[in-house]
Amino acid sequence: MNPSAPWWKNGIIYQVYPRSFQDSNGDGVGDLQGIIQRLDYLAWLGIDAIWISPIMRSPMVDFGYDVSDYYDIDPLFGTLADFDQLVTEAAVRQIKIVIDLVPNHTSDQHPWFVESRASRENPRRAWYMWADAKPDGSPPNNWLAYFGGSAWTWDAMTEQYYLHLFTPEQPDLNYRNPLVVEAMKGVIRFWLGRGVAGIRVDVIDRLLKDLELRDDPPDPSYVEGVSNPQFKYLRVNSEQHPDVYGLIRELRKTFDEFGDRPIIGEIAYTTDVAKMARCYDDMQGMQLPYNFAMLMLPWDAAVLRDFIDRYDAAVPPGGQPNYVFSNHDQPRIATRYGEAQARVVAMLLLTLRGTPTIYYGDELGMPEADISPELFQDPQGINIGITRDGCRTPMQWDMTPNAGFTNGTPWLPTSPDYLTRNVEAQTNDPASMLALYRRLIALRRATPTLLYGSYRSLDTGVADTLVYLRVLGGVRMCVALNLSERMVSLALRDLGSGRIVASTHLDRTEPVDLGALYLRENEGVVIDLGALA
Ligand code: GLC
Repeated sequence: MNPSAPWWKNGIIYQVYPRSFQDSNGDGVGDLQGIIQRLDYLAWLGIDAIWISPIMRSPMVDFGYDVSDYYDIDPLFGTLADFDQLVTEAAVRQIKIVIDLVPNHTSDQHPWFVESRASRENPRRAWYMWADAKPDGSPPNNWLAYFGGSAWTWDAMTEQYYLHLFTPEQPDLNYRNPLVVEAMKGVIRFWLGRGVAGIRVDVIDRLLKDLELRDDPPDPSYVEGVSNPQFKYLRVNSEQHPDVYGLIRELRKTFDEFGDRPIIGEIAYTTDVAKMARCYDDMQGMQLPYNFAMLMLPWDAAVLRDFIDRYDAAVPPGGQPNYVFSNHDQPRIATRYGEAQARVVAMLLLTLRGTPTIYYGDELGMPEADISPELFQDPQGINIGITRDGCRTPMQWDMTPNAGFTNGTPWLPTSPDYLTRNVEAQTNDPASMLALYRRLIALRRATPTLLYGSYRSLDTGVADTLVYLRVLGGVRMCVALNLSERMVSLALRDLGSGRIVASTHLDRTEPVDLGALYLRENEGVVIDLGALA
């Protein structure tokens, strides 16, 4: 570790979806005391910080992404005292707490919105995005809500539409109003003052919309009935107004009042490295604009190499890259790539130059659960049929009923594979996914070259292989990944010889000649090449 580097440059973030991590009171929903009970596990795994999806007071229409009180914990999860206890107990284990802040919208139950919709004259009217109907009574423009239908809902009492990029129960705040900006700074100060080490900020680049409320243009790649209905239009006016960078700079100053605590920004999914680089904004914007490219690109070595090369080069000097392979909105890794390649993913994630985020349960290889439509909980699933429930099922701790997650009835069914796929079983199996994650995490933590070294990919001339060097002060590590199901042989003579220090397969720690390096099917290895003479 480099003691002078901030935690978010040398640490690993672990995302906890609090509803599904550990229930302590038998109501079938995970809670803060449950997370406290599992801190020893997280310390054992070796992660540095946990980002907890929203825990503030909420009617739970979008499971916490609809906040009705930014200054309290939802009773389902516990109390502020529980939260303080979590921060303290985590700190004892050198674990930091990152919360999830949802500033773009509130719940429609938030007192601000209740006042805002009370009358057109209410002082809070201008805290939200209200607009008149078109002459024919239809919504002000064609903007679409992510979770189906128009982004505008008619308020019969005050006879205007209000904007909501997500469900109608999630009205968008108006960040052109300085009072709203000040209010959100107050929220940020409250939580940073309570000891959180950083904040993941929900849809941060969508806070400002087109001033004239112009229509979004059609997306030329959209095919009716085939494409995801969320993306019928290019969201160039309904979100991502360029003024948003100025707003983020302003919010960043509030973060900086508390020292070095990062804004971890959930930006719109993109593979455009220039857009991603823009978010650092001369080191006055987000410290970690989330890189979601791995959730969009095909699992193809040439495509991945091309992207990683360009991304690594685009991140401005002093900026920290980062990688995300899964989260609470996307199908799980083991289902996307298969279990064997999920091990290669683990090695890639934990050896690249950039802060890794691990989503709970991926360290067990939990697959996407198949949830039948009558059990759908997610509003996106209920409204447009694309459910996110499959990646939100209970964490699998052991083989007791409900995988040790709850004594009650879990809010989403436990995946049936929990009898064999669980923390307890995998802890005792050196060949398990969990053991692999733990080895790779330990290796990363102990290896400055993996933490801080430069990145450079190599031409192997062999299909389906991804090979790169990490170099720090002349010390070199080579990572060689086989993304195929056949054995491959690489001739990287210039690299000389080294020693394998980690493999996705258990049985391999040996000296190797890089001029004749064999990788078995689905195998990845990390090779210590030592220092240059
Ligand atoms: C983000 C969250 C997602 C949520 C949405 C609305 O994309 O990750 O879970 O539904 O914002 O807040």
